[in-house]
Amino acid sequence: MDAQKITPLLGGMSPAEFMRKHWHKKPLLVRQAIPGFEAPIPREELFELAAEEGVESRLIQQKKKGWSMDHGPFDPDSLPSTKTRDWTLLVQGVDLHNASARALLDQFRFVPEARLDDLMISYATNGGGVGPHFDSYDVFLLQAHGKRRWRIGRQRDMTLVEGMPVKILANFEPEEEYVLEPGDMLYLPPRWAHDGIAEGECMTYSIGFRSPQRDELARETLLRIADALGDSDGSPIYRDPKQEAVEAPGQVPAELQAFAREGVMRALAQSGIVERALGEALTEPKGNVWFDPPQEELDLQVTGVDLDRRTRMMYDDAHIYINGESYRASGRDAKLMHKLADQRGLTAKQLAGASEAAISLLENWFDDGWVREASVI
Ligand code: SIN
Ligand code: CO
Repeated sequence: MDAQKITPLLGGMSPAEFMRKHWHKKPLLVRQAIPGFEAPIPREELFELAAEEGVESRLIQQKKKGWSMDHGPFDPDSLPSTKTRDWTLLVQGVDLHNASARALLDQFRFVPEARLDDLMISYATNGGGVGPHFDSYDVFLLQAHGKRRWRIGRQRDMTLVEGMPVKILANFEPEEEYVLEPGDMLYLPPRWAHDGIAEGECMTYSIGFRSPQRDELARETLLRIADALGDSDGSPIYRDPKQEAVEAPGQVPAELQAFAREGVMRALAQSGIVERALGEALTEPKGNVWFDPPQEELDLQVTGVDLDRRTRMMYDDAHIYINGESYRASGRDAKLMHKLADQRGLTAKQLAGASEAAISLLENWFDDGWVREASVI
C-alpha cells in the first residue's frame, strides 16, 4: 500500500496525511469514501451468520425500562420483526466469514496489521442504535445501507448509566451531528463519544482496532515464555551446601528467592524472547477460528498463493509469525515471507526463485488451510 497516495477513502488525503492529522487526534467525516458503495452482505446473509455457533453476535434493544442485550447465536425467527423499530443486531468478525468483508478490511492496512481487529456489521431498524457511548479504540464507521444520524462529542463527563447491560453515557454532550448515507464514513479516535441512530433500515460497518492493555500483552507474552521454559532441559538445580540448621522452618530462604529471581531475569533477558512471544500472541487466531484443509493437491509455484482470509501473518527482523507460530527467517526467504505478509499473497512469478525450504513451508501451510491457491483477479 502506497502511504503517500491520495485516496477517496480518506477524503482526498493520503494515508500518511491521515495518520499525521487525524489518527488518535480528531474525527474525520468522509463523504463518499467508497463512491457508490453497495452493501456486499445483504440482511438475510447477516442474519444467517448471526445464527451460527462460533460467530459473535449481540441483539441490543431500547425499551421503556432501559436497554437490553442478548448474546447470539440467534435463530433468524427469534429476532424481532424487521418492521419493529428500535433494535440493533451486531455481528462481530464478519471478515473471518466473508471474502468481501475481508477485502474491505484490507483497505485499512495502512495501519499495521497488529492493530487491525475486525469488521463488525450492525443492522438496525428505524430508531435503532446502541446508545451514546465511547470506545477505547479507534473506529471507522462506514455507512453501508440506509441512513444513520451520528452525534459526536469530545465528552469530559464519562459517567455511565448504572445497571445497564451496555455502556451508556449518563450525560452525553454532542457537539456535531451528521447524517451518513451509503459510502460515507466517519472516523473517531478512542474515547470520542458517539451515538448513531438509524433513520429507516440501516447497516453500518465498523472497522475496529485492537487496543491491548499493557498488562494484557504482558500476560500473553509471559504465558508463552513460561510454556517455552517448560521444555528447557539442563537448567541448573538449586543447591545449598551452606544452608544452616533453622529454627524458623516456615521462612523461605533468601538464597532460593534470589535463585528464582535470577531464573526469571535470565528467561526474559534471552535475546528476542519478548518479541517472539508477542508475535506469536498477535497472530494467534481467535478461539472461534478453524481452517478448512484443501480438497486437492496443487503446485503452488504454478498457482501462486493467497493467505486464507482467517490467517494472521506478521514479521519482525528475525521472525515470521503465522497463526500463533514463529519461524526464524533471514535473507531471501525472509524477504519473500515479508512480501507474503504485506500483500497477503505471492504470485507464481514471485515464487519462481523460492528456496526449497520456503516452498515446503508454504506446502505445509497449504495443507493446514492457512494459504490457498491465488485467486485470479
Ligand atoms: C453501530 O454500528 O450501531 C455501533 C457502532 C459503534 O458505535 O461503535
Ligand atoms: Co462505538
